[in-house]
Formats: sequence, C-alpha cells, structure tokens
Amino acid sequence: MITKQKGTYDVIGIDAKKKKYVCDVIDAVCEKYNYTYIETPIFESSELFHRSVGESSDIVTKETYDFLDRGNRNITLRPEGTAGVVRSFIENKMYGNMSEPVKVYYIGPMFRYERPQSGRTRQFTQFGIECIGTDDVMSDAEIISLAYNAYKLLGIDVKVKINTLGDNESRDKYRKALINYFEPNIDNLCEDCRERLIKNPLRILDCKVDADTDILKNAPKTIDYLNKESLDRFNKLKDYLDLMDIDYELDTNLVRGLDYYNHTVFEIVGNIPDFGSQNVLGGGGRYNGLVEELGGPNIPAVGFAMGLDRTILAMESLNINFKIRDDIDIFLMYGNEEEKDTATYLLQDLRMNGFICETDYMNKSFKNQFKSADRFNSKYLILLNSEDIKQYKVKVKDNTTKEEELVNINDLVDYLDTKL
Ligand code: HAM
Repeated sequence: MITKQKGTYDVIGIDAKKKKYVCDVIDAVCEKYNYTYIETPIFESSELFHRSVGESSDIVTKETYDFLDRGNRNITLRPEGTAGVVRSFIENKMYGNMSEPVKVYYIGPMFRYERPQSGRTRQFTQFGIECIGTDDVMSDAEIISLAYNAYKLLGIDVKVKINTLGDNESRDKYRKALINYFEPNIDNLCEDCRERLIKNPLRILDCKVDADTDILKNAPKTIDYLNKESLDRFNKLKDYLDLMDIDYELDTNLVRGLDYYNHTVFEIVGNIPDFGSQNVLGGGGRYNGLVEELGGPNIPAVGFAMGLDRTILAMESLNINFKIRDDIDIFLMYGNEEEKDTATYLLQDLRMNGFICETDYMNKSFKNQFKSADRFNSKYLILLNSEDIKQYKVKVKDNTTKEEELVNINDLVDYLDTKL
C-alpha cells in the first residue's frame, strides 16, 4: 500500500465539512471588509522566498521544499502566502491605479518541512489577507480587526499580542543594541543563535532552544529604541484597537519569524487550555519594504495569516458547534426500471429547484433503501410506484411524522417548497 507522506493528511468526511464551514465563515467576513479573493501558484521561483521571507529565517534555512524542475529551474513549494501575493501585485501591475489600496484574501495549502506534531504539519492550509498600498495605521488596525472578528465568529476566544519593530532607523538602532548585548554572552547561546548574531540578531529572540533563558528574557526591547514617529504610530494603533474593543496585550519579545516586517507585528493567541504552542493561531504585521525588495515600486503593505487546520483543532478542543448540515431534504426510492427512470427525471428536476436529494444506486431492497434514507437523515421520502406514476402522481412521506401524501408530479416542487 502506498501511504501518505509524513506530516500530511487527508481531509475526509466530517473533517471536510468542518473545513468547508470555516472557509464559508471566512468568505463572509472578508466580504464585509471588502477583501477580494486571490489565487496564486503553489510553486514559485525559490528566489522569491529567499528575498522575502529571508535567507537567515528558519523557514528558508530549514523548512522549504525545494527542487529543480525538468527545465533546471530552482522551484520552491510556497511556505507562506504573502510573497506570492506581492509577486502577483507587481507582475500584474495592480498598482496602476493606486487611489485605493489593494485588499485581497486567500485560502490554500502551504508547505514547510517541520517536525510534525499536533497542529504542526508539513502541508497545512492558511487563510491570509493582504492590504497593499497604504501606510495609514488605520489599515494595520483593520487587518487586526478582521483577524480578531474571524476567530470571534468561529466562536474562539482570542487575545492579540502586539509589538512594533519600528521603522528602518529604529530597527537599525535596535539591531546594534542587540549585538552589543548578546556579544559578551555568545558562549551561552545555542549554535544557531551564534550564527544568527552575525546574520540577523533579531532572530535570536525567536529561538525555541534559548527561549526560556535569562539572556533572552533580559534582552533589550524594541519599544525602547523607537524614534518618535514610530512610537506615535504604535500609540495610534493602540488607540484604534481600544476604539474597536479588541482584546490585546503588549508582548515586547514578539519579533515574528519572517524577515519582511517593520512597525506593527502581532500574533493571535487562542485562550485554549492545554493547547501548548499550538495556541498561536495566526500572525501578521506590516511589511513596507517588501514590494520594492521584490522589484516593484516603494509601496507599503500590511497583512495577516491564520493556520486553518490549527484553528479547527482549537474549535474541536473547545467543543464549538460547527454549523454543519448533516441531513438531506429528500431520498427517492424505487423498485423497478420504470420507477428508476422517473427517479432519474425527478432527481434532475428537484436538485435544479434547490433540494438536496439522494437515491439508491445499488438496486437495494425497499427495506434497505429505508435504512439508507435514515443514514442520510432524510427529512422526506419519495416512494415511487408504477401505479401512482400512471396517474402522474408520487407518494411523499414525512420521515419524522411518517405521514404520507399523494402529490401530483406537476405540483411536487411547490408542495415540497411549503414543507422544506
Ligand atoms: P506565520 O506566522 O509564519 O505567518 O504563519 C501564520 C500561521 O500559519 C501560524 O500562526 C500558524 O497558525 C500557521 N502555521 C504556520 N506553520 C504551520 C505548520 N507547519 N502547520 C500548521 N500551521 C502552521 C505567515 O505565514 C505570514 N505570511 C503572515 C502574514 C501575512 N504576514 C503578513 N501578511
């Protein structure tokens, strides 16, 4: 037997319905905020992720699925959605008429070669939003608000952790402070962090190995190295979040694992008992330099992505009711070829009139067709019978009350409309 790859899984049965429900809620939220759906390819040139997510990030150094295609091109399965959207923004010249920011959302598979565990897989689904074209703090607040409300509408109690990296000037000052702080402690850091100190000291704050050490806990905070403009900006963001009654807290160690951020960074953490590190259900931030870095004009942007699979696990762990339809409207039953022909015709008609219909495809006995109808939780049954058909009638049975009525085929849709 050929089995699925490590860190991947099939979405089947009730799990597929749950995922569809979450996607429907997301679609509805995005519609309210006037975000439009976008699809970009699952594989892109490797260079795209090296230049955006960052050469020294864990994602690029350890986690990407890279391969040479048959034309000897360096290809990478996308580990996240922002880079592809920005590439598409530039390539399709979406900045042609920048009187409004471009507001897009996506739902799709991402790939990271990580050690699989609950809530962490090698193929996973992200829902992401990107707002490209404005530097106004109100758009940072809108992104956080959309993310926050999506979780709320799914029934999950979340907190937003926020921090700011400041503008380039503030970041440079902070970077120097980190080097000065970590250099004397270099022997106490893990091997990866020693490398990070040279390539990207901010990354040290993200280290999972050194996370609980005093060296990391007492490290300089971004907030103390902000220039006035960056600090004002951050304060304004907090004002907006207060106005929208969003539950947030400052996390001065939050730097995020991707290189492209400046100013706002945030993570959404679920209030879920015993959920461990899976509690981080989503994250995002501002990335003002990325469009230009990838060859476009100097255009600011901000975005967010939710781990969809992890969010579903959170909902399950909280016993949240997925509003999934677990029944059908009508089960059509027949006993001979003539009745089967009528069933074929009626199924076409009823489905096109909006009813959810099912029938038997295995030539089962009537007794077993009743069992099938119950298994599908059918609300009504149509019991086809040659004698009735001759009079252009069918027997309709309410599967709850067990009451039966003979209905003219011409009136069937209207009759069922009044019942369902
Ligand atoms: P990220 O924090 O790398 O951000 O990923 C966002 C979310 O994807 C995480 O919070 C987590 O819920 C989920 N996730 C990440 N890796 C895995 C995995 N291996 N298995 C299951 N779920 C996972 C980004 O990807 C940025 N592109 C977000 C963004 C959009 N920033 C600006 N715009």
